[in-house]
Amino acid sequence: MDRILIRGGHRLAGRLPISGAKNAALTLMPAALLTDEPLTLRNLPRLADVDGFGHLLNQLGASTAVEGTRPDEFGRVMTIRAGRLTSTEAPYDIVRKMRASILVLGPLIGRGGEARVSLPGGCAIGNRPIDLHLKALEAIGAELEMAAGYVRATAPTINGQGGRLSGGRYRFPVVSVGATENVLMAAVTARGGSCIENAAREPEIVDLCRCLIAMGAKIDGIGTDTIEVEGTDRLHGATYSVMPDRIEAGSYACAAAITGGELELTGVSVDDMGATLSALEEAGVRVEPTREGVRVTADGPLRPLTLSTAPYPGFATDMQAQFMAMLTLAQGASVLTETIFENRYMHVPELARMGADITVSGRTAVVRGVAGLTGAPVMATDLRASMSLILAGLAATGETSVARVYHLDRGYERLEEKLSGVGADIERVSDG
Ligand code: EPU
Repeated sequence: MDRILIRGGHRLAGRLPISGAKNAALTLMPAALLTDEPLTLRNLPRLADVDGFGHLLNQLGASTAVEGTRPDEFGRVMTIRAGRLTSTEAPYDIVRKMRASILVLGPLIGRGGEARVSLPGGCAIGNRPIDLHLKALEAIGAELEMAAGYVRATAPTINGQGGRLSGGRYRFPVVSVGATENVLMAAVTARGGSCIENAAREPEIVDLCRCLIAMGAKIDGIGTDTIEVEGTDRLHGATYSVMPDRIEAGSYACAAAITGGELELTGVSVDDMGATLSALEEAGVRVEPTREGVRVTADGPLRPLTLSTAPYPGFATDMQAQFMAMLTLAQGASVLTETIFENRYMHVPELARMGADITVSGRTAVVRGVAGLTGAPVMATDLRASMSLILAGLAATGETSVARVYHLDRGYERLEEKLSGVGADIERVSDG
C-alpha cells in the first residue's frame, strides 16, 4: 500500500493551482441523471471519489466520457449521457465505500419516479444518518419503503400518470448539505412548486443550483436558506464548470502558515472562503487577494484561536483538522469546538505522537502550542484528518510517513506533486 513520505522543515513558497471542488463534483455528477441529454462538466478534479461516482453512474446505465487534459494539467472534462437508465439502484457495496452515492436518490426519483438506494450506515467521522434526506423527499411527495438495508422511494401515480413528485414545503430541523442537494434535485422536475427552508447555503449548493438552472430548472433564493423551486417538465443538457475547491485551497493556506511560507493559491474564489481566511488573519497570517486567487504569507509567529465549526458561512468542519495541525505550533492555547460531526478528532492521537499537546473533552479540543513537532509514522481514518497529518509533517523535523494514502486520493488531486512544486520534500512510496 502507498504512503506519503515527508522530510519536514522546508518553507513553502510559490504558486499552487487549486482544483475543482470534490464536494461540488459529487453533487453535479448525479444531476446528470435528470436529463437524457449530455451534461458536460469542466474543471472536474481527478480524484478517486470522482472515478467512483463515474462507475456508479455507469451501473445505472449512464455513459461517462472523459476528455483528457494534458498529464501536466490538473482537472479534466467529463461528459455524462444518461440517455436511457438501465437501473435505479445504488447498491450497498458502492454506497458503503462512498457515502456521497446517496446523492443519486433525488435525481433518480426526479427523472423516473423511482430509486432504490442502500442505507449508508456509519462512517469514520460519525453516525451520519440520512433521515433528513428521506423526510425532505417525503415532504415533496415521495413514498418511502425500507427493506433489507435499502430505501425504495417512488413518486405516486395520480390519474394514471406515474413518476412525478407533487412538490411541497419542508423546513430542515438541522442544516444538511447532502439532504438539501437531494431534495433540490428531486424538486426541479416535480409537478408543482417546492419551498426548502433552513436549507444549507454552502457554495457547493449554489454551484448545484447554477448547474440545474443551466439545465433548465427554475430556482429562486440561491445562496439563501430559503430555496424555492418551480417544477419543470423536462431538463436539458448543459456544459458547466465545477467551482474551485475552497477546502483544498484552505488546506494549502494552512500549509503556507505552518511552514512560515508564502503561497499564491491560483484559481480560487476568495468570496467562498470568508471564514477560513478570517481565521488565518486572526492567527497572524497575511491574506491578500491577487488577480488569479489569493496570496497567503506567514512571516511572524502564529497566534492561538478560538474556533467553532458551523454550517456555511461559519467555519467549515472540513477545515477543523487542518487548523488544528497549524495551531499545534501557535504561541498559546487554542480552543476548537466541533459541532457538526461527533467523531471528528481522529487525528488528535496521531498529532500527539508527533509532539502536539492536545486535550479533547467531548466536542472541544484544547491545543497548547509547542515549540516544534517531530516526524513519525502516522495514519488517519478520514480525508481531512489525513491532510492534517501531512501539514504537521511539513513542519516537523525529520521524516513523517503518512499511511492509508487512499484517503488523500479521495479529495486532494496529486497532492505530492502540488506540494513538491512549492518546495516541500515529499514523495509517494509504494511498499508493494
Ligand atoms: N445529518 C442528519 N441526518 C441527515 C443528514 C445529516 O442527522 O439525514 C447530520 C449529520 O450527521 C451531521 C450534520 O447533519 O451531523 C451535517 O451533515 P451534512 O448532511 O451537512 O453532511 P454531508 O452532506 O453528509 C457534506 C460533505 C462533507 C462535509 C459536510 C458538512 C459532501 C460529499 N460531503 O457531507 O465533506 O463535512 O457536508 O459540511 O459534500 C469532506 O469533504 O471531507 C466531507 C466529509
